[in-house]
Formats: sequence, C-alpha cells, structure tokens
Amino acid sequence: MRFTGKILKLLVGIGLVNYTIFVIFWQLKGTMNLNTRVARNQNNTALWKSNTSSTTLLTTTTTTTTLSTTTESVKDSKSYMNNVTTKRPEATYIIEPRDIVEPYQMSDYNFKCQNYKREKVFEPSWTMVIFVKSKASNFDRRKVIRSTWGKYKVVGSVRLEKVFVLGKVEETEIQTKIKLENETNGDMLQYTGPDDYRNMPLKISSAMQWAAHNLPPEFIYASTDDDFLLNFASALKLIQQRIETRQQTKKLNLTETLKSLPIYCLYYKGDKTKPERNKGNKYYISEKEYSTETYPPYCGGGFYTISVEMLRELHNLSRVTITLPMDDVWVTGLLRQKLGRGDDNIEIIQPPKPVPKNKIIWKHFWGDYGKKQKNIPKMLYDSWRAWEPEIASKPFCIR
Ligand SMILES: *[C@@H]1O[C@H](CO)[C@@H](O)[C@H](O)[C@H]1NC(C)=O
Ligand SMILES: *[C@@H]1O[C@H](CO)[C@@H](O)[C@H](O)[C@H]1NC(C)=O
Ligand SMILES: *[C@@H]1O[C@H](CO)[C@@H](O)[C@H](O)[C@H]1NC(C)=O
Ligand SMILES: *[C@@H]1O[C@H](CO)[C@@H](O)[C@H](O)[C@H]1NC(C)=O
Ligand SMILES: *[C@@H]1O[C@H](CO)[C@@H](O)[C@H](O)[C@H]1NC(C)=O
Ligand SMILES: *[C@@H]1O[C@H](CO)[C@@H](O)[C@H](O)[C@H]1NC(C)=O
Repeated sequence: MRFTGKILKLLVGIGLVNYTIFVIFWQLKGTMNLNTRVARNQNNTALWKSNTSSTTLLTTTTTTTTLSTTTESVKDSKSYMNNVTTKRPEATYIIEPRDIVEPYQMSDYNFKCQNYKREKVFEPSWTMVIFVKSKASNFDRRKVIRSTWGKYKVVGSVRLEKVFVLGKVEETEIQTKIKLENETNGDMLQYTGPDDYRNMPLKISSAMQWAAHNLPPEFIYASTDDDFLLNFASALKLIQQRIETRQQTKKLNLTETLKSLPIYCLYYKGDKTKPERNKGNKYYISEKEYSTETYPPYCGGGFYTISVEMLRELHNLSRVTITLPMDDVWVTGLLRQKLGRGDDNIEIIQPPKPVPKNKIIWKHFWGDYGKKQKNIPKMLYDSWRAWEPEIASKPFCIR
C-alpha cells in the first residue's frame, strides 16, 4: 500500500509555474437565489463577493453568508462537541476506484510524459488524491474533467489522482451508464447512501472513510466539486512551497512533514463567518440548528486539502457527530475543532496578497440552475484551455 519508496521511471525535470489569467464565476448549488456571498481571509477582510450574475473582488464589505441546506436537527454548536449516542454505520460502496494506491508501472498505463530530462529515475515527492463530489447524473462534467485537469497524473514531482464521489441512484438507466463509466475509467467511488445535495455530509464522510482506509498517511486528501476549476500549475507550486518551508522550520523529514500538514484552503478561508439568519435565504440556518454567532474558521468547499493522517481522525469523529448541511464548515471547521486542532491548523493558500484578479488560482462556475451559465462542461473546458499552456510548459505526464 505504501507508495513512497517505489520508484517511478520518468524523464525528470523540475519547476512548476507562474500564475495566470482568468475570470471568476461562482456557483451556488441548489436552486438559484440572488443572495450575495462574501469570502474573507484570516483577518476578516472580504476578498470577493458574488451573486448569481457577477463576482466582485473587494477590500471591505459588511455582508457575510455561506452555504447551507437542512438535515438532522441540531440543538446548538455545543452539540457538535458531544457524540451522538448511536455511531453512524460505516459507509458501504457499490463502486470503488482502481489504481489509486499502487505505485506507477509506467508501462501499464500508457503514460505520455513531456519536458522531463531524459533517463532520470524519479520518485514522486508527494501524492494528492482529489475527491470530486459529483452528482451521479453529471456524466458530461466528469467527461470534461477527465479530458482536462483530470488527465494529468504527474506534474513536476507531484503525483495526482482523482476520484469522483457519487451517491446511489434509483434509475437503472443511469446506474447502467455509471457501471460502464466505471469499467472504462476506474476513477469513481459510489457509496450506497443518497446522492442529493442535502446529504452532502454523508457523501463526504463516505469519501473520507475510503481515503482513511485505503490511502497511506503521508498522502494528501483533497476535496473539490465537479464545477470547480483549480489552476493546478500555480496551486501545486504554492503547496510545494508550504511543504518545503514547513520541512525546514520544523526540521522534519518529508514523510513526517506530509503527515503533519495543516488543512489548506485553496479557494477561500471562512473566518468569523456568520450563519445566514435570514429566513428567506436558501442558506438559512436557524439558531436552533446552530446557535453560536459565527462558524469556526473553515475552508470553502471549492478546494481544500487534508493530510490523510489527520483525515483518519476526522473521519472517526464524523461518524459520531451530528451533521451540518454545509459539509465544508462541518469537516474543516467543526470536526477539526472537535479534534482539538486549533485554528493554526487551517491555512489559506493564495498567491501573495493583494491578489490581482488575473492571479486568482481558481474558477467556480454557476451550476445548472443559473440561466446564464448552463453549459458548465463547455465553460470548464474553455477555461482550462486558457490555463493549459502553463501546465503544459512544465514536466508532466498524462494518461
Ligand atoms: C493579517 O494581519 C496581520 C497584521 O496586520 C498581517 O501581518 C497579516 O499578513 C494579515 N494576513 C492576511 C492574510 O492578510
Ligand atoms: C450582482 O452584483 C453586481 C455587482 O455588485 C450588481 O451590479 C448586480 O446588480 C447584482 N445582481 C443581482 C441580480 O443582484
Ligand atoms: C467521541 O468519540 C470519539 C471517537 O469515537 C472519542 O475519541 C471522543 O473521546 C468522544 N468524545 C466525547 C465527548 O465523548
Ligand atoms: C468496476 O470496474 C471494475 C473493472 O472492470 C470491475 O472489476 C468492477 O466490478 C466494476 N464495478 C461495478 C460495480 O460494476
Ligand atoms: C522520518 O522520520 C520518522 C520519525 O523520526 C522516522 O520514523 C522515519 O523513518 C523517517 N522517514 C524517512 C523516510 O527517513
Ligand atoms: C478510528 O476508529 C477505529 C475503530 O474504532 C480505530 O480502530 C482507529 O484506530 C481509529 N483511528 C484513528 C486515527 O483515530
């Protein structure tokens, strides 16, 4: 099961990237609502706000909202610190991904590598497995992801894997298609729980369980959505810098450094975020559900990473903790706090401040609900095309 120590024959070179160009879109899941959302950094400075039609970068603001829907009833935030009386059963799966943990056998994979110096023996310095929450019926988004960022298996010295996380569907037609998709791609995890948005915490917990049971502790777990795009060339470089800095300052070897990484927010870090108390708002959370004035610092669900070492503990807690509809607040905020990991265990990773618009390293699209941005697959594709030259100028392997 261990990956390190296994050798990957590649033509090596090093170097990642410069930051790039782009545009921001933002997707609210669920039905469309014209509310405004604001992301803040650690200092509570608003970074951007968005509504259904536009996203604006900001320096100051007063509004704060965040994602929510409803699930189990919650008395108050202290309820999260207590354990439920009956531990939730382990998740079970219909489909599990293949080839995630095994070391590369380059010959088996028909890899195409470019820009590496010839004949060098190469061992990936770290591996990130990206769990992509995807509605079972989102065949077209998964297809585009596989042909864009999802085809990159190695970038510089980093190994990347992706796993689409699906729930159970009743329609046999859809399930038949999913099985075919599995045969061809082997990159899906389908658990036997519900696929709907309201039950996202159960879905994410099932993914955490699979990762906790199957990935080595020095792997990095990442969570993202199928309508979110990260500029991997830029983002991996920034993560690599953090890892190197920690390794030096904490005087740990690489394995120990990877195991002890904090949670990294690549999208935004919510800090002092107030639950939405406006009843008309889709993201409404009653005081009964969550009584405390603010959420603990958390990573926006667009893209965040957790060391598998920490994830194993978070997963155990997830089974004995009441859920909050917003799975990102639940995992990176509440479960983290419950684990006793203070706020120094959550860091935002962004290009150096102030971040100009053209250096923001992600794009988040409106889903199927917005009138203007119906064609998410096309937007994902077009936007990735704009970023592709950056990653393609680096040493990489695709499958
Ligand atoms: C937050 O404020 C402190 C003190 O002013 C500053 O050193 C730090 O860089 C700020 N952090 C961010 C993310 O802006
Ligand atoms: C969205 O925000 C932009 C910029 O702040 C504003 O001009 C526009 O009217 C807003 N649209 C809606 C539908 O609220
Ligand atoms: C809750 O359960 C976890 C793991 O099952 C355990 O480590 C922890 O001590 C429990 N916490 C409380 C408050 O009972
Ligand atoms: C997924 O594909 C693999 C490889 O073909 C196969 O072994 C496995 O049974 C498939 N799973 C399902 C549920 O069809
Ligand atoms: C890293 O350090 C740990 C703890 O000191 C040690 O157990 C482990 O063998 C080291 N790993 C490597 C690859 O040197
Ligand atoms: C998680 O819980 C299982 C079963 O109770 C236990 O064996 C395992 O050691 C726990 N893992 C962590 C990291 O707490």
